[in-house]
Amino acid sequence: MTLRDASTAVHDLVGIGFGPSNLALAIALQEQAGAGRPLDAHFLEKQRTYHWHGNTLVAQSEMQISFLKDLVSMRNPTSPYSFVNYLHRHGRLVDFINLRTFYPSRLEYDDYLRWAAGHFAEQCSYGEEVARIEPERHGDAITRVRVVSTDAAGRERVRDARAIVLSTGGTPRIPEVFAGLRGDARLCHHSGYLDWIGRQPCASGKPMRIAVIGAGQSAAEAFIDLHDSYPGVKADLIVRGAALKPADDSPFVNEIFAPAYTDVVYEQAQAGRDRLIQAYLNTNYSVIDADLIERIYALLYRQKVSGQFRVNLLTCKTVVAAHAAPAGIELTIADTAPAGSEATETRRYDAVVLATGYERENHRRLLAPLAPYLGDFTVDRSYRVQAAPELAVPVYLQGFCQSSHGLSDTLLSVLPARAEEIASALYDALTPGRQDGAAARHARAAELGALRA
Ligand SMILES: Cc1cc2nc3c(=O)[nH]c(=O)nc-3n(C[C@H](O)[C@H](O)[C@H](O)COP(=O)(O)OP(=O)(O)OC[C@H]3O[C@@H](n4cnc5c(N)ncnc54)[C@H](O)[C@@H]3O)c2cc1C
Ligand SMILES: NC(=O)c1ccc[n+]([C@@H]2O[C@H](COP(=O)([O-])OP(=O)(O)OC[C@H]3O[C@@H](n4cnc5c(N)ncnc54)[C@H](OP(=O)(O)O)[C@@H]3O)[C@@H](O)[C@H]2O)c1
Repeated sequence: MTLRDASTAVHDLVGIGFGPSNLALAIALQEQAGAGRPLDAHFLEKQRTYHWHGNTLVAQSEMQISFLKDLVSMRNPTSPYSFVNYLHRHGRLVDFINLRTFYPSRLEYDDYLRWAAGHFAEQCSYGEEVARIEPERHGDAITRVRVVSTDAAGRERVRDARAIVLSTGGTPRIPEVFAGLRGDARLCHHSGYLDWIGRQPCASGKPMRIAVIGAGQSAAEAFIDLHDSYPGVKADLIVRGAALKPADDSPFVNEIFAPAYTDVVYEQAQAGRDRLIQAYLNTNYSVIDADLIERIYALLYRQKVSGQFRVNLLTCKTVVAAHAAPAGIELTIADTAPAGSEATETRRYDAVVLATGYERENHRRLLAPLAPYLGDFTVDRSYRVQAAPELAVPVYLQGFCQSSHGLSDTLLSVLPARAEEIASALYDALTPGRQDGAAARHARAAELGALRA
């Protein structure tokens, strides 16, 4: 059965996904509504309640970004949706100050985001997974799209929209060699870690041998959690490189995550953008917080002292085959070192955690019915996909624009600025006659300047 959304015939905007990106957008749209007509924006989120990477929130996990880079503060420090206001409302502001940190736990940040999302509960339908977005032709032009989703009861729902902002985040990367093991309960991608580990024999104290694949932050957090929380686990961290490498979060380098740096990247020709992104990959990918690296090193050192080895780091190793046997998952492992031998070894594990990162491709799948109008998904500076003229419905992307807007695009770094830019562009596109977004921004800046004077 297909249900049409009864509450509104056509939404101005349907946002796909309600993670931090679209939540920041909902706030910016509300801020910009001012005295004029607010846009009718509705968001669809496949999770049943608000969670931010909920299955990865191990107790020890901390934010990798200052709390001042919350949903709003860098744009509007007086917003009620700031992390500081969240602390204040929850009676923890003084205690948090006493922690003397810029980096809250990810558990607390998840709670902050849920609190902020709670203010927009009417504007979000949870438990609805968008399957596709289809064109609706009126004469020569496509003036609306149909957003088709499946609700928690398995029913298909359809909503019409005059604009789309797609912010569905990354999709687990499963290396080819593990493709045949999809669906095997002994294999887990890190994005599902907490639910999965809770179902494993080690959760009731039984011994297990577990392999963790990857050398990024996710791999390090899983490896430490397996050591700290499951005394029955023997774990191998299998990495392709020669060493675990620290994330560069030094202050000059960190300037690449400033909102103004988006222009620096965007204004380059593609080869220049690629060079800038490549030069700073070690701020984010295949790297680990230095603190965590030191913890892992200390943990391995303590084993050398005690002579009891429960966890191992296997460097310069790559899995070339994975076989699901009744007694365990057998991994064929080869050397990656340039002078490495041709020989391989086979190790058997009770379970494998793939901390192998994320792909950013699912916008292409969801927008496939519109693909003939969307070219190669090139976006303009306002994150709007450059479309054929007959597609009058603006389509914006958040989190899929790293190659044009820089490394901050998949992170929390520029959320307030990006949300404001997209909100302005949406008001300009959907409410003709309204003061244009750029003019409104200048007016607000002048107002702020006057306040400071
Ligand atoms: C474990 C982990 C920790 C991280 N920590 C940090 C950090 O500390 N600092 C930082 O800057 N960045 C961090 N990141 C990067 C992360 O991408 C951003 O923090 C942030 O989550 C991006 O927000 P988003 O809304 O674009 O994407 P997401 O947070 O991924 O949200 C996308 C939302 O869309 C929903 N969705 C997906 N598909 C559909 C569909 N078809 N229909 C409906 N809903 C859908 C998802 O359920 C999800 O809620 C982390 C990433 C991971 C994986
Ligand atoms: N506390 C936190 O805030 C926190 C926690 C977790 C994640 N994150 C964030 O989430 C994002 C993703 O981090 P991530 O650690 O999940 O992913 P990542 O940084 O992309 O790392 C993926 C790892 O998987 C390895 N890998 C990929 N394909 C492989 C294959 N075929 N065979 C073997 N190894 C393979 C890579 O190896 P190579 O190194 O050899 O390429 C890399 O080490 C980052 O932004 C990170 O900061 C944040």
